[in-house]
Amino acid sequence: MTKKILVVYYTQTGQLRNIVQSLTKPLTEDSGYDLHFEELKPKPPFPFPYNADEFFQVMPESVAGIPCELEPLSLKGDEHFDLVMVAWQPWYLSPSIPIHAFFQHPVGKVLIKGKPIVTIVGSRNMWVMAHETIRGYIREAGGKLVGNILFYDKAPNLLSVVSVIRWMFHGKSERYLWIFPPSGVSAKDIAGASVYGEIIREAFIKGSFDKLQQDLVAAGAVEVKTSLAMIEKRGKVMFRIWSDFIRRKGPYGARSRVLRVRMFKYYLLFVIYLVSPLASAVYWLIKPFRKKTIQQQISLYQSVSCE
Ligand SMILES: Cc1cc2nc3c(=O)[nH]c(=O)nc-3n(C[C@H](O)[C@H](O)[C@H](O)COP(=O)(O)O)c2cc1C
Repeated sequence: MTKKILVVYYTQTGQLRNIVQSLTKPLTEDSGYDLHFEELKPKPPFPFPYNADEFFQVMPESVAGIPCELEPLSLKGDEHFDLVMVAWQPWYLSPSIPIHAFFQHPVGKVLIKGKPIVTIVGSRNMWVMAHETIRGYIREAGGKLVGNILFYDKAPNLLSVVSVIRWMFHGKSERYLWIFPPSGVSAKDIAGASVYGEIIREAFIKGSFDKLQQDLVAAGAVEVKTSLAMIEKRGKVMFRIWSDFIRRKGPYGARSRVLRVRMFKYYLLFVIYLVSPLASAVYWLIKPFRKKTIQQQISLYQSVSCE
């Protein structure tokens, strides 16, 4: 029997579309699988490239999980799928607003209910806290997370911040001045994504997703950087406070909150370039004494538990 797979994704730059196309190649090229690609389209679309105010305006709603409107989905929810893949990106240590919208959409909830779910993350490098929110959505909708695959920008953190800002504000992702690496997930990692599609195909052949995540992790699908996860944890607490502070002045896009949005921008630059390098240095000093805790964290972030 043909296996039916739903692939839901949102992308501004096209990166996540390239990732899902490469990853699902072993399945799309096999006549035993029928894939339905559902691209989420916010109504109106988010700007890309952004200007600075627009880029920071999306923070409060991303962090608070306030959805945007979506163009009607092509599905009603009563269609049968043997597997649902959701490819998503973090915005401000939280799922992007269109991804919140999908998980909160009545049709989205039905599509997730009772299904095995594979999540695919296309991030800069900070995805761990946002994935906790995704786990919560899957748990609430009654889905079963069976796999998680991470793609991230492997350039050093402080350099990739500059490259990503150039990408987001000017739409340019190639190498900049010789020091700043190309932005985004590397072409090599995107081309290699089909390895994971092959593992998913093997799980279908075995007739069980029980060991899927174990096999994906063994193939390198989820490299956890605990030093960044530590920064994320503290950052998320502060982002929540900023999100409430800005939203008190008005909803997404309101002129009345621009001053607070700009205050957040300067706060973020201060944290990224002054606080986070110091926090990382302290982390590297204490790391040898916290081996067990770090291993526990890696196992937790690599797991597919939604408890
Ligand atoms: C507003 C905004 C906030 C972002 N915040 C994060 C973040 O917190 N962590 C991260 O790893 N990447 C972050 N990114 C990068 C995205 O997750 C994503 O990798 C990149 O925007 C590629 O876009 P696409 O997947 O929509 O094509 C952010 C991007 C945008 C536009």
